[in-house]
Amino acid sequence: MSIVTIATIPERRPDTVYPFRVPPALFFGAGAVELMGGESKRLGVARALVVTDPGVAKAGIAGHVRELLEVAGVTTGLYDQVETEPSVASVERAVAAAQSGSYDVIVGVGGGSALDTAKGVSLRSVNAGPIQRYFGVELVPKTGLPTILVPTTAGTGSEITPNAIFDDTERKVKAGVVSHRLFAQVAVVDPDLTLGVPPQVTAASGIDALTHAIESYIAVRATPHTDLYALDAIRLIAANLRTVVARGSDRAARYGQALGSFYAGISITNAGTGLCHAMAYPLGSAYHVPHGMSNALLLPAVLEYNMVADLPKMARIAEAMGEPVEGLSDRDAAQLGVDAVRQLCKDVGVPAGLRDAGVPEDALEGFVEGALSAQRLITNNPRVPTADAVLRIYRESY
Ligand SMILES: [Fe+2]
Repeated sequence: MSIVTIATIPERRPDTVYPFRVPPALFFGAGAVELMGGESKRLGVARALVVTDPGVAKAGIAGHVRELLEVAGVTTGLYDQVETEPSVASVERAVAAAQSGSYDVIVGVGGGSALDTAKGVSLRSVNAGPIQRYFGVELVPKTGLPTILVPTTAGTGSEITPNAIFDDTERKVKAGVVSHRLFAQVAVVDPDLTLGVPPQVTAASGIDALTHAIESYIAVRATPHTDLYALDAIRLIAANLRTVVARGSDRAARYGQALGSFYAGISITNAGTGLCHAMAYPLGSAYHVPHGMSNALLLPAVLEYNMVADLPKMARIAEAMGEPVEGLSDRDAAQLGVDAVRQLCKDVGVPAGLRDAGVPEDALEGFVEGALSAQRLITNNPRVPTADAVLRIYRESY
């Protein structure tokens, strides 16, 4: 068996028409952030609101982005109070900051929380609140201010996706706005910006990216295009994640990990995610387990469950992760893949289970309904999950 991606085509009906969408301008590479000024000139913008979180502001990255914009003649303002796992109310505070100046571009700098908040500010610049009314797929009527998105972690893929995930603290659910109107005008992925990310965040966001790659690869909506990106994302993340967690200053490994995350973002934009993400959201909403960590805690058991739905693809995942699959049946190779994911999670310090993340055991049953209500993700999962199966996976992950 070898990774010949053309071999994925016969699995699709030849008369299936599928889309492939990405933001109009993507830049990747060490030093890419230096292009900010030129790109803002190209967009013809004059006043930028930089949206970031306190940590990224303190690290000086948001300040550097502002300097680059100012040198290019763009006046900048700063909103640096982005919450992790942003609540709907926190997005409204950022919207209020944006309304206090006549900005014509929103520049998101940070992890997924900052980039999603920037998308929320853009959405609300022309669409009335509350933001909850746009939860769902393609429910946003008007395109808001353009965004330039600059990730400082390698994992969420938010700079590429048309999704923004918010915590509706009143209804206690995390839900997503998915709309082509949320695509960034420009995404700038500079791996050097991730050099200072601490090991725990590097690990959680890295496993989030791996989850994106794997879930989109085996997704119902996977296409020959997304298979290319997903499989190479798995290869890059498996090859680099341990190194970037162990030695964050390794520029080559940070480059490989950021490229893997970037590819995984392209893949989920077009193929979506599945059961692992659906099961992760209730944990984030109820117990504030960070998104990447929620996925990391659930991924091995979810894959074990999903494995039988697509043994050939699961076998290719094992090969992409560098496992010795030569001569093995798809079933045996697929199991090696699941084991390799479990080992990778362990090696980068993911806690043994949900118990260690502070989730009480009697809460598990209450998560099932929330997980199954994420229909956008559930219907995209290769195996149709029952409530019993979902509860079993939560328990296995405990
Ligand atoms: Fe994710």
